[in-house]
Amino acid sequence: MKSETKKNTATISNIKRNWWKEAVVYQIYPRSFMDSNGDGIGDLRGITEKLDYLQDLGIDVVWICPMFKSPNDDNGYDISDYQEIMEQFGNMADFDQLLAAIHERGMRLILDLVVNHTSDEHPWFVESSSSKDNPKRDWYIWRDSQEDKAPNNWESIFKGPAWQHDATTQQSYMHLFSTKQPDLNWENQAVRDAIYKMINWWLDKGIDGFRLDAITHMKKEPGLSDMANPNSLKNVPCWDKMMNVDGVLNYIDDMCRKTFNHYDIMTVGEANGVSVDQAEEWVGEQKQRLSMIFQFDHLQLWNEDSESQLDLIELKRIFSKWQKGLQNSGWNALFLENHDIPRIVSKWGNTEKYWFESATALAVMYFLMQGTPFIYQGQEIGMTNTQFDGIDDFDCVGAKNHYAELREQGMPEQEILHLLSKIGRDNSRTPMQWDATEHAGFSCHAPWLKVNPNYQSINVAEQLQDSGSVLNFYRRLIALRKAEPVLVYGEYDLVLEADEKIYAYTRSLDEQQLLIICNLSKESVQYYYDNKALREKNMILSNYTKGLDNDFLLQPFETRIYRLGKA
Ligand code: GLC
Ligand code: CA
Repeated sequence: MKSETKKNTATISNIKRNWWKEAVVYQIYPRSFMDSNGDGIGDLRGITEKLDYLQDLGIDVVWICPMFKSPNDDNGYDISDYQEIMEQFGNMADFDQLLAAIHERGMRLILDLVVNHTSDEHPWFVESSSSKDNPKRDWYIWRDSQEDKAPNNWESIFKGPAWQHDATTQQSYMHLFSTKQPDLNWENQAVRDAIYKMINWWLDKGIDGFRLDAITHMKKEPGLSDMANPNSLKNVPCWDKMMNVDGVLNYIDDMCRKTFNHYDIMTVGEANGVSVDQAEEWVGEQKQRLSMIFQFDHLQLWNEDSESQLDLIELKRIFSKWQKGLQNSGWNALFLENHDIPRIVSKWGNTEKYWFESATALAVMYFLMQGTPFIYQGQEIGMTNTQFDGIDDFDCVGAKNHYAELREQGMPEQEILHLLSKIGRDNSRTPMQWDATEHAGFSCHAPWLKVNPNYQSINVAEQLQDSGSVLNFYRRLIALRKAEPVLVYGEYDLVLEADEKIYAYTRSLDEQQLLIICNLSKESVQYYYDNKALREKNMILSNYTKGLDNDFLLQPFETRIYRLGKA
C-alpha cells in the first residue's frame, strides 16, 4: 500500500499495522452502480468503467455485493452457483478483467460471501428437496411438518414463518430469509467442506477478502424449540435461537483455519446480535478470526421509532462503547450506510436547508473514529431517500412481504407506504446518480428501479466541478485520514459528552492530537472547550468556508477538525 512505503514498521504505538486498517472501503451494489450495455441493469463492466472515479476519490478497497449466479429473489443474496457470474452482470472474463484493473491501480477487491443459505435453485437444494433419502437431504434443515403446522414458531427475518412446507415429503425446510433462501445445515461437515473449497477457489483467484453475510445466523439453537415470543420487542422479533447462538464461533474457527488464515486478506462479518463485550471473540488480534465486524447497535436507533429525531447522547454512548471496547484489542468497521438501510442524510441530516452541511458533518462524525471506514455508493454525493408512489415502486422482497402482512392486519395503504418509505431498503438501492441526463447517466435505458427524482441536482458530474461539493469534501476527508496516522491508529476519546447537539472527540497518538467536532443539529450551538489551540489557524478541515466570527460558536451542522497537539 502507498501509505506503508514511507515508514513500514510493523506496529504503531503498539498497535499492529495492517493494510486493511489503513484502507478506505467503497461498497458497490452492482445492480445500481453503472450499466455498461444499456439493459437498465448495472454490471461488472460498468464497475470497471468507473474505477478511475473511485481511485481519484481515494478508495483503497472495493466491496461488491453478490454478483454470482442467482434467480434474484433477493438481488443476488440468493445464490444458485457460487462460481459463476450472474448473467445480467456479465461473465467470468469480465470479472477477471475487473479484478486485474483494480489491482493495476493498487486497489483491492473484496466479495460478498453468502453462506448462511443458498438459493432454492442451487443444485445442492434441488437435490436435497428431491427426496427424504437423497444424500444431500441433510445439507439443509428439514423437519417433519403439516400443511398448517410448521416445525416451530420461528419467524423469517423477511416476515412470515421461517419454514416452507413440502407436501410430497411432509417436511418443511428452514429459511431465515425469503422462501427462496433455504438455510444450509452448518452442522454437516460435508456442507462446510464444500463451502471452504469454494472460498479457497476465489482466494486463489487473487481476491483480497470477503464481507461475510448474515454470519451470526449460521448456528441455530439445537433442538429448534419454540421461541418464548417471536414478536416480543415492538416490531423487532426476538431472534435469540437463531442469532449469535453459542457455538457459532466454532464454525468461524473451522472456516478461518481452513480458508482465510492462509491468505493476506481482510474479512468483515455482518454481525447482528454480537455485543461489544463479545466482540473481542470475533475480532480480537489474538483470536485469529475476522479482521472486523459490522456491529448493529447504532442501527437499533433507527428501528425503534423511525419518526424520531436522532438521540445523540445515545449514539455517542454506543459508538464510544465500541471504540473503547476494541481499543488495543481489535478493530472496528465504521459505517453509516449500506444497501439494507435508508440514506443517512435523510435520516439524521437535513435534506432541505442544510443538505450539504449535514451530509458532510455526518461524514466527519463517523469517518474519523478508530476503524476502517466504509462508504456506500452515492453516500459520497449525499444521495437521499427516494420517493415511492405505490407498492409497485418497491423491489425488495422484505418490503413486499411486509406490505402483504400489514394489509392483512388491516393497515390502510397510505400508512403502509409511509412506513415502508421510511425504512425500506430500496431507498439506498436506486441507481447511482452520475449526471443530469436522462436516467442519471446510469443507463441509456429505463433502469430496473426508478431513479431518485432529485438526480438533476444531486449527481457526480456536477459535484466534480464544484470544489465546495459533498464529493470534494469526502475526497479531502479521505486524503486527511491517509495523511495523518493519528486518524488511523490514534486513541479515541469522547469529549463534550453531555452535549445533546455536538458530537466531539479527540484522537491521540504519541505527541499528536486532533479534535473532531460536529454540530449535528440545525441550530447554532455555543460550546466550551478548554484548549488554547482552538484557533482558526489550527483548524485543518471545516465544512463552512466563511471565516469564524467566534471560535466557540458552531453554525448549523458545522464540523471542524483542529490540531491540538504537535504535527
Ligand atoms: C444480509 C444482506 C441483505 C440480505 C440478507 C440475506 O443482511 O445485507 O441484503 O438480504 O443478508 O442474505
Ligand atoms: Ca447492464
